[in-house]
Amino acid sequence: MTEKLLSTDHPIRFEPPADLAAAANVTEAAYARAESDVEGFWAEQAERLTWAEPFTEVLDWSDAPHARWFADGKLNAAYNCVDRHVEAGRGDKVAFHFVGEPGDTRDLTYADLKDEVSRAANALTDLGVGSGDLVAIYLPMIPEAIVAMLACARIGATHTVVFGGFSAEALASRIEDCRAKLVITSDGGYRRGTPSPLKPAVDAALARLGGQSPVEHVLVVRRTGEYVPFDDATDLWWHDVVDSASPEHTPEAFDAEHPLYVMYSSGTTGKPKGILHTTGGYLTGAAYTHHAVFDLEPDTDVYWCTADIGWVTGHSYIVYGPLANGATQVLYEGTPDSPHRGRWWEIVEQYGVTLLYTAPTAIRTFMKWGREIPDGYDLSSLRLLGSVGEPINPEAYLWYRNVVGGDRCPVVDTWWQTETGQMMISPLPGVTAGKPGSAMRPLPGIGADVVDEEGRSVPNGSRGYLVLTKPWPAMLRTLWQDDDRFVETYWTRFADLGYYFAGDGAKKDEDGDIWILGRVDDVMNVSGHRLSTSEIESALVSHPRIAEAAVVGAADETTGQAVFAYVILRAGDGNTGEALIQELRGHVAKEIGAIAKPRQITIVPELPKTRSGKIMRRLLRDVAEGRDVGDTTTLSDPNVMALIAAAEG
Ligand code: PRX
Repeated sequence: MTEKLLSTDHPIRFEPPADLAAAANVTEAAYARAESDVEGFWAEQAERLTWAEPFTEVLDWSDAPHARWFADGKLNAAYNCVDRHVEAGRGDKVAFHFVGEPGDTRDLTYADLKDEVSRAANALTDLGVGSGDLVAIYLPMIPEAIVAMLACARIGATHTVVFGGFSAEALASRIEDCRAKLVITSDGGYRRGTPSPLKPAVDAALARLGGQSPVEHVLVVRRTGEYVPFDDATDLWWHDVVDSASPEHTPEAFDAEHPLYVMYSSGTTGKPKGILHTTGGYLTGAAYTHHAVFDLEPDTDVYWCTADIGWVTGHSYIVYGPLANGATQVLYEGTPDSPHRGRWWEIVEQYGVTLLYTAPTAIRTFMKWGREIPDGYDLSSLRLLGSVGEPINPEAYLWYRNVVGGDRCPVVDTWWQTETGQMMISPLPGVTAGKPGSAMRPLPGIGADVVDEEGRSVPNGSRGYLVLTKPWPAMLRTLWQDDDRFVETYWTRFADLGYYFAGDGAKKDEDGDIWILGRVDDVMNVSGHRLSTSEIESALVSHPRIAEAAVVGAADETTGQAVFAYVILRAGDGNTGEALIQELRGHVAKEIGAIAKPRQITIVPELPKTRSGKIMRRLLRDVAEGRDVGDTTTLSDPNVMALIAAAEG
């Protein structure tokens, strides 16, 4: 069975549920419409927004790869996400069911959100923040984070949200790079049942910048009530300045190409890239894909995206897309295991969540904890499940579909990036069959292909590089302060063809459907054979004893690279010795082929992961190749590498 599931030649298929297909927001016709006139198609999608001044030109690509979408149109992003729903008589509709980790809850309607955003916009204006200024937001998952983002958008200030798990050092480098004038933070947030401070990291970041600091004020939300040092010269309490501000604020219209936000993301060098997204095209791309891929019914759906707003998924699929569409959402502050491992399922049951969007790493964690936990809750409200951020191995997909989705909910595996701003490759739930492990086909209006070294489209059944062949509305416009790096990173590899190089490897199966193989820098070459780290990981995880696996290619004199695997075991029969290692090697050989057999398999207690859950293979490569382990500052748990080194012996 497993062999069959893992085979991309004859993959298992789940057809769209008939009732969903019959009433889907987007049907097969959208592909043809977009194919016949892609600019006309995107112009129609832009009409989902309310424009203060209509655009006359859809795309200006004359200065490629610098795109301008809807450039002569004007709009206000916050108006589109909030006010227009209130004006349409939907002010009483819940925008967010907020669930704090300690159990406090708060519902915000669209009318509440409008008042809060307006107050915050007035307060920021009083602090001298306006169009063109940069504001750094360093907050936990509380409603004020969203209010802060929308308040910036409302007054034309560009926000840069820094994930609350980042260190003072990371925060300082971002503040410095974007010259933020204001930092919005909180005393702290709750994590695993205890208050965890944030403001001290802001203080440390500013101290580090010293006289170079561009920051004029720090606005502090009170969340935990714990003591925080307060500097009366710069620091202000949110409740003092925002709560007393007027809830009346007239939004100004900005150019469609006005900078909405900068999101820092890791590249191949040590310096994070400041990815710039602008207003009209970004909002169009986020709103359309949220409507299409989640088949959103704003009047009845309760949507929950579990990402942190510190990442692009939180920007596009908690804030801008869903709010532009008038959705009702759940916003949860904490971790899945606090105060117990059923917390997520309890929330799904309590709020009747219908659409759930999460990451494979979370699903694999739940698998490790066992199905008895979700089985203890009523999850029958769910109707569609989404996955994002990394390749989803077929086992995790099937578990998600079966245990969480009761075998009735389609799973949409959505491929996109911080750079793309919007989903790019994904099934449409009413149209496309789901194949566990495949992101399937480019969404309507999106051009994607898998190409060889020369940029030639590979035939079905082959692997290559994933490229995007035409501009799309939510595409990044440049890298902040580093346009050369923008051109060089994404547009030089296939410059003659004008393709955007995504940095991912992919394959087309016999039907032409796309399977993402992971970052190209994580693709190995063993004796001239291309092997994907994630493919071998998927094979390992399909073994009943393996809970999680990370694979790296380590340099080898004879074969180019050799496969090294690091695995976490499930509880089992206690066999952790050489016999098990041989069994696992044999299992990989059986699933993929002898060439993929790991040279070495090390059983470890934990894997090195970033705070967003991505495995840091670079560090494992260091261990595998016998080097000192490099920079570990972005690890969620810095002790993990010592444990792995000990396991290696
Ligand atoms: O390698 C791909 C992987 O995540 C990368 C983008 O990461 P980031 O910019 O942090 O954005 C994450 C949220 C969109 C991609 O280059 N990735 C993302 N989604 C998928 C994926 N890999 C496989 N399948 C996906 N659905």
